Amino acid sequence: MAAPLEIRYYPDPVLRKLSVPVSPQDTTIPQLVTDLFATLEGRGIGLAAPQVGILKRVVVVDLGPEYSETLPLALINPEITWRSEETSACSNGCLSFPGFWEDVVRPEEIVVAYQDVNFRPQSLKAQGLLAVCIQHEIDHLDGILFIDHLSKLKRASVIRRFKKQIAEGLSAS
Ligand code: NI
Repeated sequence: MAAPLEIRYYPDPVLRKLSVPVSPQDTTIPQLVTDLFATLEGRGIGLAAPQVGILKRVVVVDLGPEYSETLPLALINPEITWRSEETSACSNGCLSFPGFWEDVVRPEEIVVAYQDVNFRPQSLKAQGLLAVCIQHEIDHLDGILFIDHLSKLKRASVIRRFKKQIAEGLSAS
């Protein structure tokens, strides 16, 4: 059974914590992956375990049907092993900041090493939106949020507007 989990919103302190690597001995991982996909469904393209308050190095990515060749993807203990020198700016949203989108500059292409849900080692070269999404989600495992990639001024503006939105009552949308 898949159970959607409660998403933690900024400035929940759990979003700033470091997540720990997981091992095959942790028998909760397959259920966690199932629940993360259930939480993500219809709401976004990527989710990291700390966003539901679980400080484990697990992320899920699902860009939708046009990427069905490689997705949906669960990445356990993901690690970026190569980054291109070329960068590109791409709009980033985050389920912990509903309603907010800002351009973030990141490496255009990456190689990510990870384990799949059966703890088999995998490696994937990603570019475009998939690379953006994987980098954004791995940042979450290190307590890094997309606002950290913005200029000081822009970051302050997003935080101010988001806190205002929370104060006015976060809409369910
Ligand atoms: Ni996010």
